Amino acid sequence: MRSHYCGTLDVTLLDQEVELAGWVHRRRDHGGVIFIDLRDREGLAQVVCHPDAAEVFAAAETVRSEYVLRIRGRVRRRPPGTENPRMSTGAVEVVAESLEVLNSAQTPPFQLDEDDVGEDVRLRYRYIDLRRPAMLANLKLRARVTTFLRNHLDRQGFMDVETPMLTRATPEGARDYLVPSRTHPGQFFALPQSPQLFKQLLMMGGIDRYYQVVRCFRDEDLRADRQPEFTQVDIETSFLDEEGIMQLMEGMIRELFAEVLGERLPESFPRMTHAEAMARYGSDKPDLRIPLELTEVADLLREVDFKVFAGPANDADGRVAALRVPGGGRLSRKDIDGYTELVGRYGAKGLAYIKVNERAAGAAGLQSPIVKFLPMEVIEAMLARCGAEDGDLVFFGADKARVVSESLGALRLRLGQDLDLVAAGWRPLWVVDFPMFEWDEQTQRFQALHHPFTAPRVSDAAALAADPGRAVSRAYDMVLNGTELGGGSVRIHRPEMQQVVFNLLGIGREEAEEKFGFLLDALKYGCPPHGGLAFGLDRLVMLMAGARSIRDVIAFPKTQTASCPLTRAPGSASEAQLRELGIRLRGAPAA
Ligand code: AMO
Ligand code: AMP
Repeated sequence: MRSHYCGTLDVTLLDQEVELAGWVHRRRDHGGVIFIDLRDREGLAQVVCHPDAAEVFAAAETVRSEYVLRIRGRVRRRPPGTENPRMSTGAVEVVAESLEVLNSAQTPPFQLDEDDVGEDVRLRYRYIDLRRPAMLANLKLRARVTTFLRNHLDRQGFMDVETPMLTRATPEGARDYLVPSRTHPGQFFALPQSPQLFKQLLMMGGIDRYYQVVRCFRDEDLRADRQPEFTQVDIETSFLDEEGIMQLMEGMIRELFAEVLGERLPESFPRMTHAEAMARYGSDKPDLRIPLELTEVADLLREVDFKVFAGPANDADGRVAALRVPGGGRLSRKDIDGYTELVGRYGAKGLAYIKVNERAAGAAGLQSPIVKFLPMEVIEAMLARCGAEDGDLVFFGADKARVVSESLGALRLRLGQDLDLVAAGWRPLWVVDFPMFEWDEQTQRFQALHHPFTAPRVSDAAALAADPGRAVSRAYDMVLNGTELGGGSVRIHRPEMQQVVFNLLGIGREEAEEKFGFLLDALKYGCPPHGGLAFGLDRLVMLMAGARSIRDVIAFPKTQTASCPLTRAPGSASEAQLRELGIRLRGAPAA
């Protein structure tokens, strides 16, 4: 049907006859001559229909936006002055000699070049949305990334192995998607949150190096960079320690960016401990493009009368930190109210600040709701520590450490955007030395910060049990421009250690046996030391595409409420299906 893609025409084809097939992007009637911009995957071609080709012209008069056409014609240079330098095919046009309407189209629900189309409409008519050049470019980029990674991993000796989708719960910290079993009434499969246990079993099976581009399922609160089903580039290797794994992965990402984007990432990605990331950036995925940093000030505030600060300053789990904003003196009352509301969403009870008009003038040179509660020498010491200069503003957070870090960490990101402080370029890093566990107030239990199969730094199980709160894991996260691209760890490869970690997580012997008995068994039959990581492919492509949401790099994503406006999934099941599965509904859950 076609000799060339529309978007590939250029002057090398002058005077040649071509056959094109595609969609009507635009039709313009120029008094006697009809111009059709015909569009396909590769771009646009201008087609000219003259009245002297009577049949062509008559057909051209009937076509509308998004009609599907087949055109035969001759390529010619556009008349001088009518070239379009913004189009790759802008120097040429095709004079139509035949025009066949392959299909008509109703008026589309939105124009392809319309800017603010609601996402619901875009998703409902995703097949039209995908025709937009930006969306096609994203999917093309995604395909190139996947192909590059597959080839690269294959060259490095990684074997592509598929793992089950119908399986048992794989704990990665989210809720499971369950699938009822018809043959085992009352029992359920879980869709994998990741192939974590299978890839470990593959190492025990002697595969040595495994990878898989694999769908994972997590029922969790959705955000711009989270989907209920998403894709990992999942990797595991035997007989390498964290250093070896990180080197290999860093090299792969560097080559990917060079090959696919022509961008150079740093020769060696910096490493930062989890503690340092939290202290300086209030985040375990710091965006290093933003120059703002937090400063610890609790030690200066232990003796003051101002309870808001003194309380957390004297609390072992508390934190008091300052965030200096150079030039922040120009922030208005209204701006500050907005930021106070922002930190409130992270649990902060307020947002104290000091505007430094003239530091040399003492209290008179400061504008702040808190200076009246604090001795001048304490204020001076805080300002000195964060290096505040005239014209700056310093924010303060005082609360449980988690609240302060999360709220000031979020404020830092917002200020970076608002004040245009986000530097251009790529700032990757590794975050390392994560705590093994974090204490969960609600359940009064330890939770695994990474997952329960991550090895601790100590190799002695008794040493781990003696002081779990302080244990550091052998996990690592790759972070790029404030996004966690991937994470992994060296795994536990001895049954005793795995059992101790289960115990510490409150998973008793019986429960461990019932849920993970197969893993504990496998660890007893010659398990090699092993480790790996998984990249979030959607996030990786989102960053490379400069997209704001992973939904823009997924062909058919779910909405924020985990539904699909196109197919209208999820849907209800018929009474017959439910009966077969042995399921009776309790009715709609109470609101
Ligand atoms: P983790 O849970 O950190 O590790 O996931 C790895 C990477 O997957 C991406 N990711 C997501 N992307 C989109 N939507 C989601 N809901 C979502 N959740 C995670 C992130 C993340 O860095 N089995 C371990 C890996 C290992 O230890 O080897 C795991 O799944 O980019
Ligand atoms: P208050 O005495 O509660 O009115 O607070 C005085 C100032 O401290 C106000 O600017 C509040 O926004 C701020 N503030 C209150 N609680 C906190 C907190 N936990 N962390 C930081 N600032 C706070």
